[in-house]
Amino acid sequence: MHRLEDIRDILAEFEKQVDLYAPEGGPFGCRILDYGEVTVVIALDAVPGKALKRMSGFISEAEALEYVEEEKRYYGLLSERGITPLPTECVVVTGKTTVVYLVQDLVNKERLGNSILRNEPMETVAGCIEAALDRIASSVRYNRQIRDGLEAVADSQLSNWYFPETGGPPFLIDVGSPITRANGKVYAFTQLFYRSFPWPLSSFVKWLGAVESYFNEYFDLRLAILDMLGNFYKEQASARVAPCIEVVNGWLNRQPEKDEIKPITLTEVKKYYGKDAALLELMFQVRRYTRFIRNRIFRGRYDYILPGYIKRL
Ligand SMILES: Nc1ncnc2c1ncn2[C@@H]1O[C@H](COP(=O)(O)OP(=O)(O)OP(=O)(O)O)[C@@H](O)[C@H]1O
Ligand SMILES: [Mg+2]
Repeated sequence: MHRLEDIRDILAEFEKQVDLYAPEGGPFGCRILDYGEVTVVIALDAVPGKALKRMSGFISEAEALEYVEEEKRYYGLLSERGITPLPTECVVVTGKTTVVYLVQDLVNKERLGNSILRNEPMETVAGCIEAALDRIASSVRYNRQIRDGLEAVADSQLSNWYFPETGGPPFLIDVGSPITRANGKVYAFTQLFYRSFPWPLSSFVKWLGAVESYFNEYFDLRLAILDMLGNFYKEQASARVAPCIEVVNGWLNRQPEKDEIKPITLTEVKKYYGKDAALLELMFQVRRYTRFIRNRIFRGRYDYILPGYIKRL
């Protein structure tokens, strides 16, 4: 078992030599577990049993420390609202640039919501969806009653939830982008996302408020559900959309909000996903182009690790 200081030392060494184009293998035995929009989750042989999520795009160490504070605050807000984050430590590593690693225990991938969705019988899938929705609904309800103007929710997509083999409540594993609002305004570290684009596109994407409107949707129970179901297409589980809509509508019908929230339809889910996939793909292509320009032409450093290709349907 490594202490956090040892992990910090290993990550500092790892950062010194990592090839951001081809991070896998190498002296630290790097494996990529998954990519986010602007993040990458890796495992290192040198740090067994841990998942390491690399957050980049910081302009200074001070900003990275601010991010860490915001992260800690987010865990607290989630817990108050009935959502249990998977225990997460933050490690700030300053080399050529500053990055933050979120360190968690490596959980069994088969028990993540998206694997369950693809591989388990409908009964199990239904139980997991209901368990995640119970937590999301609890945070949405809590947000309605706050007095300090601070709201927080979780990303509803199933790949962000870990359902332990032993049963019990699910854990939220995706805590790297705190989804919070202060007095109704999205308060998040959205600059990390914008900075993955070249100027002036970064300013344009920021002006569009793309991340803010995306985040705002999670505060609305019905939109959070549409996002969860729409993501099934990206997860290559389109056959599960229709039966899961039934599960969700059954669940909605048992909630205190049942008269305020209309049942979900298949047409809406498809439409919701189509809109999302096109925008994300465009942004991804722009980022690859930016990396090429910055690294190869200007010989600078584009600090994000990007996937080769994303299968979205
Ligand atoms: N602790 C963990 N154990 C095993 N796998 C993990 C762990 N954390 C993350 N992963 C894998 O990496 C994927 C992405 O992680 P996560 O959801 O935290 O970030 P993200 O969605 O990539 O980030 P963002 O939402 O910030 O773009 C998960 O769906 C899972 O497959
Ligand atoms: Mg995620």
